[in-house]
Amino acid sequence: MPGSLVLVGGDPGIGKSTLMLQAAARLAQRGTVVAYVCGEESPRQVRLRATRLGVGEAPVTLIPESSLDAALAAAEGAGASVVIIDSIQSVYVEGLDTRSGGPAQLSEAGARLVAFSKTNEITTIVTGHVTKSGEIAGPRLLEHLVDAVLYFENAEGGSVRVLRAIKNRFGATDEVGVFEMTGEGLQSVENPSSALLESHDADASGCAVTAVIEGSRPLALEVQALAVPTNLASPRRIASGLETSRLHLLLAVLARRGGVNTGAMDVVASVSGGMRLRDTGADLAILAALASAASDQPLPRATACLGEVALSGAVRPVHQSQRRLAELSRVGFKRCLVPNGTPAVDGIVLIPVRNVRDALQSLHR
Ligand code: TYD
Ligand code: MG
Repeated sequence: MPGSLVLVGGDPGIGKSTLMLQAAARLAQRGTVVAYVCGEESPRQVRLRATRLGVGEAPVTLIPESSLDAALAAAEGAGASVVIIDSIQSVYVEGLDTRSGGPAQLSEAGARLVAFSKTNEITTIVTGHVTKSGEIAGPRLLEHLVDAVLYFENAEGGSVRVLRAIKNRFGATDEVGVFEMTGEGLQSVENPSSALLESHDADASGCAVTAVIEGSRPLALEVQALAVPTNLASPRRIASGLETSRLHLLLAVLARRGGVNTGAMDVVASVSGGMRLRDTGADLAILAALASAASDQPLPRATACLGEVALSGAVRPVHQSQRRLAELSRVGFKRCLVPNGTPAVDGIVLIPVRNVRDALQSLHR
């Protein structure tokens, strides 16, 4: 959006600079005047990287400035309609007697950037290192000031990176971009489902596959669960990629409606590729993963799960079931547990289930 201010956050080394340089080059090749404020690297280093990324010829104006005001003035002088500041921690506001990247600097820089982007109608993208520990007063301080916040995140252990909108004043927040870091920079992953299922082990217990709708596209992904006997009075429940409250709820449904009790077990659940599950259509897969983990029995091969789970144990319909099933079929799934009444889709056998008990029976290998 012209004149918007966007924050791109992420761990150091995740690939923010690479993404920004590639985006800047593409925009410049299409005729947009782009200024790139490189506070962290010298223009020579940035040029070298651009050459390595195959975009060395793109007419991006590099501004080696660490004074924010000077950098913005230079960008305006260059007639830029897009300005990238890489990173917010590497520029400082003159006249403030505090270290760059500190809270006072960040809030003053934020205020100046808002004024700059709005007054000049210049789209301004700011990167920021977010470290998971410490540094509470990091670039997150800027989140409420900017129009959009994107986080660039790493899928555990893989080369897949996910760019996710956390806040967006001008559009949806549920779109994700999926990229892979290669020798030639970031490449868009054309087939994210396959990337997310890359490490899927059909013979491991606690692994269930489902398809969710992320923004405008269906994505197949894997839910993993592990359940082990606990020696704690209050067993551990650890969830990553899903809300802990949802894990609790599904464990309660599993116990009461499915007869699988995990009260004496520590339970860990996670989602492949560092994806975050918001889609309730994944409930049945989470439940199946938990049941499989509790019994240490793998689920049937090439069988996915689709369905929302109610407190009553009923398995409820999901929206866009056709597109999800088509995606599961495309990535090689032959069967899918679905809520009763789900219309057929070519290439995948549907196993209709009415409730959790039905589902657990159908999932015996
Ligand atoms: P970088 O964009 O500098 O990360 P950030 O700005 O978020 O700190 O990229 C960091 C990593 O990416 C670095 O470890 C090297 C790697 N990388 C590649 O693997 N291929 C490439 O083509 C480039 C440019 C970087
Ligand atoms: Mg960087």
